[in-house]
Amino acid sequence: MPSILVTRQIPESALAVLRAAGTVELPPVPPTAEALHELARGRDAVVTMLTDKVDDALLAIAAPSLKIVANVAVGYDNIDVPAARSRNVIVTNTPDVLTGAVAEFTWGLILGITRRLAEGDRLIRRDGWKGWSFTFMTGMELTGKQLGIIGPGRIGRAVAAGAGAFGMNVVFGARRSGGVLDGHPIVTIEEALATSDIVSLHVPLRPETRHLINRDAIGRMKKTSYLVNTARGPIVDEAALAGALRDGVIAGAALDVFEREPNVHPDLLPLENVLLVPHLGSATIETRTGMAELAAKNVAAVLSGQAPLTAV
Ligand code: GLV
Ligand code: GLV
Repeated sequence: MPSILVTRQIPESALAVLRAAGTVELPPVPPTAEALHELARGRDAVVTMLTDKVDDALLAIAAPSLKIVANVAVGYDNIDVPAARSRNVIVTNTPDVLTGAVAEFTWGLILGITRRLAEGDRLIRRDGWKGWSFTFMTGMELTGKQLGIIGPGRIGRAVAAGAGAFGMNVVFGARRSGGVLDGHPIVTIEEALATSDIVSLHVPLRPETRHLINRDAIGRMKKTSYLVNTARGPIVDEAALAGALRDGVIAGAALDVFEREPNVHPDLLPLENVLLVPHLGSATIETRTGMAELAAKNVAAVLSGQAPLTAV
């Protein structure tokens, strides 16, 4: 029987798919990076989470038997994909199944920061609400504003599809600009930053997107605009963002992902104009089940000699 390591508890329906394909080992606690190296030895398949680092050292230990690393995430910046390729290990991710959940969640963040929902909740809980007033806690309306989507991939396009419901115009910002996608122009990232009222990030983390949103990029944004990040923390220079939010360079930000999760830059914590959420973009029961099942099906396919469903 092939040996399958699963680094964390996943839904039973996905474990059932794996058990039909091999012997499943699930460590009682999520393994540390070092423990994972040893646990991976001799496996035919490893099912990983975005918190598991699959580097060349791990692959060197596991490669003699390892056929597939199935990441239960759409992002795969935790995996050294070229190293896996050079050792003939297939890497899979979980696209599509989480697109709707992340897009819905992005709209939650957009509404949450522009209408100051968490700030209002904090105010009430500390007994700070002194009563209704006409100019009290006013936010920014979405109707007639521009949404700039950096990264016109599956998730970015799904977020854009919601913009009509709020009467917003959309531009996509991309390295390769020009043309129209889903009826919206594709402009340069610089132009999307400079002209949008909401900038939402939907690019993968790669060497060239690390700190894509640095002090310079934030400086291009409108003083009244908001930044939303549901992609990966290191795409934003968190220290630069904290400074910009404190100094009023932009109006606010909503962040689901951070540079050093679960740590959040301490300069963000005292600020009212930032909404902080603990990496929940795909966290619905439906989507997490779908992600785990897709990862399991990728493992089952590869272990039975078939092509994976969603190789990266
Ligand atoms: C979540 O962050 C994912 O990449 O699936
Ligand atoms: C990933 O699925 C993306 O659309 O960026």
